[in-house]
This record gives sequence, structure tokens and C-alpha cells, in this order.
Amino acid sequence: MCGIVGYIGEKKAKPILINGLLRLEYRGYDSAGIATIENNEIKNIKNKGRVSELNNISEINSLNGTVGIGHTRWATHGKPSSLNSHPHMDNSNNFAVVHNGIIENYSDLKEFLKSHKYKFLSETDTEVIPNLIHFNYKNSNETGENKFLKAVIDTCKMLKGSYAIEVLSAYHPDNMIVVRKDSPLVIGKGENECYISSDIPAILSFAKDFYLLNDMEFAYISKNNVKFYNDKAIEINKEIKNITWDAGSAEKDGYPDFMLKEINEQPKAIRETIGSRISLDSKTNIDDFNFNKKYLQSITKIFIVACGTAMHAGLTGKNIIENLCEIPVEVEVASEFRYKNPIITQNSLCIFITQSGETADTIAALKLAKTKGAKTIAISNVIGSSITREADYTIYTHAGPEIAVASTKAYTSQIVLLAIISIYFAEILGKNPKKIEDLKNNILKLPSHIETILKDTTKIKDFAKKIFKEKDVFFIGRNVDYPVAMEGSLKLKEISYIHSEAYPSGELKHGPIALIENNVTVVSILTNRLLLEKSISNIQEVVTRGAKTFIVTNQELNHEFDEVIKIPKTNALISPVLSVIPLQLLAYYISKEKGLDVDKPRNLAKSVTVE
Ligand code: AGP
Repeated sequence: MCGIVGYIGEKKAKPILINGLLRLEYRGYDSAGIATIENNEIKNIKNKGRVSELNNISEINSLNGTVGIGHTRWATHGKPSSLNSHPHMDNSNNFAVVHNGIIENYSDLKEFLKSHKYKFLSETDTEVIPNLIHFNYKNSNETGENKFLKAVIDTCKMLKGSYAIEVLSAYHPDNMIVVRKDSPLVIGKGENECYISSDIPAILSFAKDFYLLNDMEFAYISKNNVKFYNDKAIEINKEIKNITWDAGSAEKDGYPDFMLKEINEQPKAIRETIGSRISLDSKTNIDDFNFNKKYLQSITKIFIVACGTAMHAGLTGKNIIENLCEIPVEVEVASEFRYKNPIITQNSLCIFITQSGETADTIAALKLAKTKGAKTIAISNVIGSSITREADYTIYTHAGPEIAVASTKAYTSQIVLLAIISIYFAEILGKNPKKIEDLKNNILKLPSHIETILKDTTKIKDFAKKIFKEKDVFFIGRNVDYPVAMEGSLKLKEISYIHSEAYPSGELKHGPIALIENNVTVVSILTNRLLLEKSISNIQEVVTRGAKTFIVTNQELNHEFDEVIKIPKTNALISPVLSVIPLQLLAYYISKEKGLDVDKPRNLAKSVTVE
């Protein structure tokens, strides 16, 4: 959840660290800090609040070191405060650490260190790490580089939980050690310099060549060399990976916020995700997939496992797979799936969806499915992310970096990819050729349909102005429209802080309708011609009770509603890709009307790397 950044080279580290932290702020933003080494001394400046506030502290300009680490925090242990901010130092001020993750056994380690006279200043779990490193360093018989390396390795062996850490030592002023376990960390290599970060986009403008660390791999970094070690301190080789994302794709590009930029990037994201995977006159082709008919016929159930928006994409994926492949699909929230002993057999196929590829619960769920013998597919947007290194097969959405905490282009790209996977399976199984043809045709038209919706958003903006002060908003839909209602409701609550709930339209009168009173807004998605009359009746039921109505539809309606947003017609199975766009925009404009930080909503973080 926290963001960590590091620099080691010939330039002044401070501006590079601040720049990296500003780009990583979406991971957490309640406090920030940086430490650099100068004249064999660690200088550490940290503060409660945003990175911009840290950068306004006058002493920060006195940091001249060319080796440094930085951190932007999403509090887990201890409230946001200067003392709880990272970097944390050991008692002797010779080691500084930034950490992303959770040290589960920190209380025991704290007691152990206290018994050796160590004192603690903060309430964090992290503060045990620099002190343990000091303890192991002091008690080591090693010398030179090895002494530093072994102290960090021995410390990590004592830690339980998840971590990505960067360690500076005043005893080794030209080096830094970094390591990860179940938390992301990458190293960008430049000419006589290295950049370290929680994710690639934050340092993409500085480096194109990256080392992607695996769990319990230790990197001993100097400005012109990176050596990698396993947890037995044996040197290992690692390949460097060239990343072709362009740096501009991680910038706002003239938009006021990343979220609006990313909403507008959806046509491009979908075009790229389709790529050459489907065409009208040949079979669907997915790189690295080698499924055969016999195997697919043996599949008795498909599980789709994910969190939040990715799980909502999975619900639409379920409709598509069941319709085309005629295989039952269960969609599960990852944090539930991993603890419920799911009935998975070798005849189960498990698909895990995660934009970031770093969501702790989704990764743990995948590991569980593997132990039960199921084949696993990861759908991710981030090349080389943790989940892609665990799954049997990985298939990427090519949405480009998604920076805003509220997911938009990743969601629509995930649905398109699930549709492509469904078509791929159905073609091998020889099922539903007519449906496949229609679906392919319509998938290819999605980007231009989204462009049509985005051309004029005035009505949505005006409606947002009318309802931005409301306390409750309801979202309803039937069949393929229900998962979109859930996604619209999630978008609204996460960036506008308005309480909202989503229901299948037909379920309203089984309880929730008691909450409908004069002027409550009900957002309704209506894309299913066959269910049109029934859905209209459900809307009439709330209108009668005084509700304001905002309708997203591709049907001709002969009734008066407060606002009707027309979207292009498409194959019903993929209609969520179009109907969600007005809902994303409604949430966006409401948040703007309220003057909130759209990209960094309170209490949230972009990748949820703790369970
Ligand atoms: C989406 O707007 C949310 N911020 C959140 O639900 C997100 O989709 C979820 O945390 C899963 O993230 P992932 O796709 O990176 O695994």
C-alpha cells in the first residue's frame, strides 16, 4: 500500500526521490519522508501529510546526498504522524529503512530487542527492522560488504509477514540493499545510477531497463552495479527486462486528473487489449495459451477470483463464459475464497483478475488454487507483477498504467479480455459459432462506441451538479446490468464518499425499497430489451415514491425520467463496457463538485498489498 523509492548514482537524490514519491502517492498519502547519506551520516526528514508538504520543509533542501530512500505511507500500525512516518532509523542512527507491507511478528521482535536494551520511538511494525539489522550487524563476524548483506538477510529471516524494504547504512555510504517478500519492488538501471521503486511507472521517465525482484532475492546496489543474492547469501543471476511503456503514459497529459484521463483512454486501452487477438476471419489467438479440446471438455467449473472492481469485471465475465462455453462459473471475492476451503479439483480452472498484479488476497487465492491442483490463469495489467510470476498462464490487458485509485480503463479492458478468453475456449470446444461471430463483431466496435459516449458529457455533468450534496444513491439493474450497477455504486462511494448501494432491480421490493423517499436518486441501467418492461416497472415503483431517476440505456423509452443517457447498442454480453462509462463520469463529476481529490480518495490506496 505504501510507496517506496530509492536512488543511487551521481545526481542529487532529493529531487529524484520527491519526484518518484509524487508519482507513487496514489499508493498511500498520509505521511512521507526521505533519507540520504552524506559524509558517512544519514540525514532523515519526514512529516505527516502529503509529499508536497514534505517538500515544503525548508531543511529538505539541505539534503545533498547522491544515495537516498523515500516513502509515502498508508498507515497500518500507528496513526499518521511524524514519528510513525518512514524512514525509520535504528538506535545508533547508522541504518535507515523504508518498508511497504506488514511485519506480523513485530510485537515479539520488539520484546526481543527491548531485552537487548533497544528503545522504540514509534508505534510502527517497521521500526523493528533497522534495529534488528543493527543487532545482527553488531553480532556478525563477517567483514565488508558481506557484513551488511548478512545482517539484512539474517533480519529478513526473523521477519514474518510481507515486505519490500530499502536499507541505507552509514557504514556503507555508497550502497543500498533492497529485498522483497510478497510486496512489489523493481530496480531500474541507468548509466552509473539505479532507481528503485514500488512500481515501474514512478521511475519510467528515468529508466527503461528493469530488474524485477522475486521473493527473498536481495539486491546489493552500488551506482554502477547490482548484485543479486538468495537468502543463503549465494550470488544469483537476474535478467534485465526492457519496458516499452512510454513515460508520457504515466503523466496527466493536460487532463486535470488521472481519473478523467483514464476514462478518456478507454477506447485506446480496449484497442490495445484486443490487439491481434481476435479477427473476423480467423480463430482467436492468445499468446502462450495452449489449451486443447480434451482439457477444456474436462473442466467442470471455472472460478473467477478477484477484489473490488476486478471482481465486478469477473461477474460480467461469468455471464460471457457461461453463455458461450456452457461451463458453470463461480465468481468469488479473493479475501473470502482463500479462507473458505473452496471445492477445487483438477477439473477446475481458476482465473484471477488483478489490475496491479499485487493484490495480496488475490495472489494468496491463486497460490491456494495451485495447491489443489487447478490450472491458474492471471489477468493483469502490469508486466512482471507478482501474480504473473505465480500463475500457470498470464494474459495481459494492455490498458497502460492506471494511476487513479478508482479503476476505470482496467475494468473495461478486463471485461474485453474475459470476452476474448471465452471466445477462445468456445472456438476450441466448437460451441455457439453464431454467438461468437456476433460477439467478435461487437467487440471490435467497442472503442468507437465509447468515443461516441465521451463526445458529449454535459448531461452527466449537469445531473452531478443537481445531486452532489445527497447522502444516499441507489443503483439498480437486471441481468447483465446488475454487475454494472455494483461497479457504478463502488465508483461513486469511493471517490465522492456518498453512501450508495446496488441491487438487482427485482430485489428492491424485498426490503431496500423502504429506503426510497422523496428526492432520493436511483440510477438505473437498462440495456436488456427482453427485460425492458419489467425493469421500467421497477423504476416506476421508485418514481411513485418520489425518487429522482438517472437512466443509462440503449433502448427507446416511452416514459419521462429525470435524466436519460443514451448509449450505443451492442451485444448484450459486453454492454457493461459501454453502460459503465456514464457511471464513471457521474462519480467523477460529483467528486469534482464536492471539491474532493478524485485521484487519491481518503482511506484508499491503489494496490492493496496487505490482506
Ligand atoms: C477500484 O476502483 C478499486 N480501487 C478497487 O476495488 C480495486 O479494483 C481492487 O483493490 C483490486 O485491485 P487490483 O485489480 O489491482 O487487484
